[in-house]
Amino acid sequence: MSHLHPNFHNGRFITVEGVNGCGKSSQGTRLSNLLRALGKMVLHTKEPTTEFVGRHIRQALQDKALLATLGPIGLQSWYALDSHQHMQEQIVPALKRGEIVISDRYRPSLVHSALRKEDIASLLDLNATILGSDFLKPDLTFIFDVTPEEAMKRLHKKGVKLDEQETLPEIARTRELYLELAKEWPGAIVIDAMRDEKEVFVQVRSEVAALLKILI
Ligand SMILES: Nc1ncnc2c1ncn2[C@@H]1O[C@H](COP(=O)(O)OP(=O)(O)OP(=O)(O)O)[C@@H](O)[C@H]1O
Ligand SMILES: [Mg+2]
Repeated sequence: MSHLHPNFHNGRFITVEGVNGCGKSSQGTRLSNLLRALGKMVLHTKEPTTEFVGRHIRQALQDKALLATLGPIGLQSWYALDSHQHMQEQIVPALKRGEIVISDRYRPSLVHSALRKEDIASLLDLNATILGSDFLKPDLTFIFDVTPEEAMKRLHKKGVKLDEQETLPEIARTRELYLELAKEWPGAIVIDAMRDEKEVFVQVRSEVAALLKILI
């Protein structure tokens, strides 16, 4: 994918992706805890951020009228702006310091703004325009794959207020788009996340061990 720039920094850039409720935060936390216990410096971070644009994205996700006004492209441009600030202020500095960055969502999450698979290419272009040379290729991109029914079950289990995207048809659509993007996103690893959390982590850990050339 020509949009993505290689990570020439000393640190490693790992991203966790997948539909809402698939287990990104659980796996990211397990990974950051393990790496920290091994003495590694880890930045475990998240998109959208809690900065200016990120806060407005969260607000929009709860507001049907605002979402309709923005439209998917407008919303995606906010996500890309927020990601750009995230790269400039948090991720790239940490990579330069040689840290391991685990980002809970990154630009593969653009699939949320795609109505059909044909939209993915133009959303990648939009992100490339906004992020420019900060559109870094992660060293690993985990895409946790679950059925929409399982994702909804896990979201209900969390007991938080669900947003406009957290419905069965929306999650089903997003899941298919993630699988489509995975075909072209370099280094994407689709993980069967229907399994027990510990089993999923065995696979995550072994991929990370191979990347870092360590035994964990
Ligand atoms: N493999 C698993 N099996 C069963 N339940 C799981 C598994 N992984 C995570 N969970 C549970 O499912 C819920 C959602 O997990 P988590 O918050 O990690 O998902 P997420 O992808 O980060 O969600 P969101 O997109 O809302 O941030 C949590 O209650 C978590 O404990
Ligand atoms: Mg989460």
